[in-house]
Formats: sequence, structure tokens, C-alpha cells
Amino acid sequence: MSSTSNKKSLLDMATQTIVQSQVWRSIFRHGYPDTPLNQSLVMMGNVFLHLHPVKISRQAMKITYTWCMGGISFFLFLLLTITGVFLMFYYVPDTTQAYQNINQLSSAVTFGHLVRNMHRWSAHLMVVSVTLHMIRVFYHGAYKPPREFNWVVGVLLFFVTLFLSFTGYLLPWDQIAIWAITVGTNLAPYTPLLGDAVYKVLVGGGAVAQSTLIRFYVGHVILLPLAGALLMAVHFWRIRKDGGAAGPPPPSRREVEAQAAEREALSATR
Ligand code: HEM
Repeated sequence: MSSTSNKKSLLDMATQTIVQSQVWRSIFRHGYPDTPLNQSLVMMGNVFLHLHPVKISRQAMKITYTWCMGGISFFLFLLLTITGVFLMFYYVPDTTQAYQNINQLSSAVTFGHLVRNMHRWSAHLMVVSVTLHMIRVFYHGAYKPPREFNWVVGVLLFFVTLFLSFTGYLLPWDQIAIWAITVGTNLAPYTPLLGDAVYKVLVGGGAVAQSTLIRFYVGHVILLPLAGALLMAVHFWRIRKDGGAAGPPPPSRREVEAQAAEREALSATR
């Protein structure tokens, strides 16, 4: 008995020494998060957590309310980044090598086929999940003030997602990719006023060729993911500043009265 309490006190002493050391206190600047104040300080003092709201309505977080489509989109973005880095080890953005690279990746690289398919399917799913998220936000009227700026950030994220999908489509350099991108980029000259300039910036010449492949590659692996990550940071920070996700509206007076009447009727029958 005495040895257990001895061990406990030794453990307590060790814990106290660590928790009170300067190294610990320079990293964790608050106590254990068991009070509302410490809970808030934990959220404020952590670079990842501070993007989230300190408090959030339980109703607004219900999966039946948000469909979790924003969270799923973010998860898919992370998965695409990890699998994309793996693919970058093998893929060379050269018109004479790209198609062969992709074939070898699927047939000769350990887990290559799996990772490539994870990347492909996650990309398709992300387009679906972002679209559903947008529909959900619109359906709940969550684009209204004070969330109108976040709606605009969301629209930019929507376009980044579509462009990521579009640029990724060309990279295997197979017939379907070349002709799909030829058709897609042939729409660019119809842009009012800037048509030809848009086409040249996108394609890098008069037709889809090596210059297009390198442009789409740089856009796909650097520019668009970077823009997406920055916009997501702003998006999450805005959710926090706007008081968390907008919950369902409070019950109407008629609903409150009906519920009270129901409760009364129930207690009268008991
Ligand atoms: C990469 C794309 C996106 C990611 C990762 C993302 C992520 C999220 C997350 C995690 C939330 C919290 C609530 C929830 O899950 O519904 C949210 C809320 C919100 N999102 Fe997005 N989102 C994206 C695209 C969009 C798009 C395309 C729009 C609209 C055009 C949009 C507009 C909003 C708005 C207005 C809110 C606040 C909703 C509320 O308060 O109920 N987002 N987003």
C-alpha cells in the first residue's frame, strides 16, 4: 500500500517538475483545459486549433445538418496532397515520357496502381463533395451576412478545385487527355476581350504541346494547391470569426407553443 502511494507521489513529483519547467511553460502557456478559461487559452495558443471557433452550437455541428461535406472536402484535399507527392517521385512532365511513366507507375511500382487510383478517385470525389457542400450552404442560407465574404472565398475554392481537376487530366498525356484538353482550351478564345491572351497563357503556344504540359504541371502541383491551401486557411479562419457554422434557426413561436401544449397534455394524462 505504502509503495503504491510512494510511486504515485514520485510520478506526481516528476509530472510537476516537467510541467513547471521553463521548456514546458514556453510551449504550453495555460493550465489543464478543464475550465472555460483554460479551454479558450488552449484554442488561442495553438496554431492549428486557433483556426477553429472556441465555442460552437451543437445543432450546427450535427452531421445531418452540415452533411460533413466541408470536412470531407478538406480530408480529400489532404489525401490528394499526400498521394500527389508520391506520384511526383515517378512522373516526368515530358511529352515523350509522361504516358510511359504513368503506365510503369501502374505496373512496376510497389503500390503505384493503388496510389494512382486513390489520387484519381479522391479528385473525382472532391469535385462532388465541394459541389454538395456549396449546395448545402446555399440551402441553409449560410451565405447571408455575416458569412457573405466566406461565400466568396468558397466560390474561389470551387474554381481552384475545378482547375485542379482540369489540369490533372492532361498529365497522363494519353489520347483522351490530349483531346479533352484541346477541346477545353479551345473555349478560351471565346472569353470576351481577352480571349487570345487567355488561350496563349493557358496553352503556351498555338496548340496543345510540350509547353502546355509543363504549364499544366506547374499549375497542378504548385500554383493551384498553394492557392487552395491559402484560401482554406482564410475559409476556416472566417468560419471562426463569423461565430462558427450557422446553426438552424431557433424554433418559431408557434412551434414553442405547440411543444409546451404537448408537454402539458402529457403531464395531464399521467
Ligand atoms: C476546398 C473546398 C472547401 C473546403 C475544404 C471547405 C470547408 C468548409 C468547412 C469544414 C466548413 C464548416 C462547416 C461545414 O462543414 O459545412 C465550411 C463552411 C462554409 N463554407 Fe466551405 N469549404 C470549401 C468550399 C466552399 C464553397 C465552394 C463554398 C461556397 C461557394 C463554401 C462556403 C462556405 C460557407 C459560407 C461556410 C459557412 C457555413 C455555415 O456557417 O453554415 N465553401 N467550409
